[in-house]
Amino acid sequence: MQAFQFFERVTIGAIAMSVVLGAAISSSALAQSNAKVVVAHRGASGYLPEHTLPAKAMAYAMGADYVEQDVVMTKDDQLIVIHDITLDRTTDVAAKFPGRARADGGHYAVDFTLAEILSLDITEGMSEEDGNRQVGYPSRFPAGKSIFKVHTLAQEIEFVQGLNKSTGRDVGIYPEIKSPGFHLAEGKDLGRAVLAVLKQYGYSNKSDKVFVQTFEFDELKRMHDQLMPELGVELKLVALLSGGEENEWMLSADGMREVARYADGIGPEKSMIVDRDSARNAPKISDLVKLAHDNGMQVHPYTFRLDPGQVPAYAQSFEQMLEIFYFDADVDGVFTDFPDRAVEFLKAQ
Ligand code: G3P
Ligand code: CA
Repeated sequence: MQAFQFFERVTIGAIAMSVVLGAAISSSALAQSNAKVVVAHRGASGYLPEHTLPAKAMAYAMGADYVEQDVVMTKDDQLIVIHDITLDRTTDVAAKFPGRARADGGHYAVDFTLAEILSLDITEGMSEEDGNRQVGYPSRFPAGKSIFKVHTLAQEIEFVQGLNKSTGRDVGIYPEIKSPGFHLAEGKDLGRAVLAVLKQYGYSNKSDKVFVQTFEFDELKRMHDQLMPELGVELKLVALLSGGEENEWMLSADGMREVARYADGIGPEKSMIVDRDSARNAPKISDLVKLAHDNGMQVHPYTFRLDPGQVPAYAQSFEQMLEIFYFDADVDGVFTDFPDRAVEFLKAQ
């Protein structure tokens, strides 16, 4: 069987599962979670390779409130859903396109056409150490299968909107503008292109089920002050915080007030909200959520995983970690690779 045919069959199978399981997740059960939401980080990426349509269908079926898209631009200005600006970690680009790497060894999406990128196979994320290429999370889906393909942002939106129609649910999307400064330096206005596609698919105001996120605050400001007014849209924006030096100015009442001039929410790395109090081996909660809430912003930390070694020492289990974040720290949502576990946790409350 051709790889693409098999990919199609996997996708169709996942959609069928989505419809069956989606029906099992009653709207009342989802409503019990109040305003707290589950964002499927790169799809149900704990179970299927990240940013594949089967991973998105699985996340949808599991009851996620939002499905995330990291967005990157190709050489021919197409928007694809992939996490890295290079193709190396999650595809077989090096094998299929020898001699196309830049001087730093990376194969950049902006150097490849969409047709070239669609010829690649997606695999589980790999890491490289001392020349050895190995899977990032060994307990996940086996690497190296010729099953999964890259898709465009438009295809993923049509996929989610199609499932919303067929199930009657209203699952949102959560696109991230990936490395907007890099794209602008390459002559590509990624932020404008993403907003234009969102508008094309009916996302145009803050009541629509979409958050647009980026780590680069200058781009957030540009979207707020220039791009959205020019396109005639007004969407919810989320400032991602990595916890690095570039975020230090934000971590005060004045800083959060400034962020809230442009953003409707923040997406901090989760240790910025809860860390380990080493003296007591207990969770220590920062004032970041309160500062954000005081300024009218929602808080969606990342990334909640249950692979070996991924639950911090202050929690006994994945669910206890969720309890600490959702209810002790009072976050409004979490990005997780395991959306089923977070949905089940909220349903049980
Ligand atoms: O975008 C928030 C979350 O996805 C964490 O960032 O690096 O996984 O895109 P990243
Ligand atoms: Ca992301």
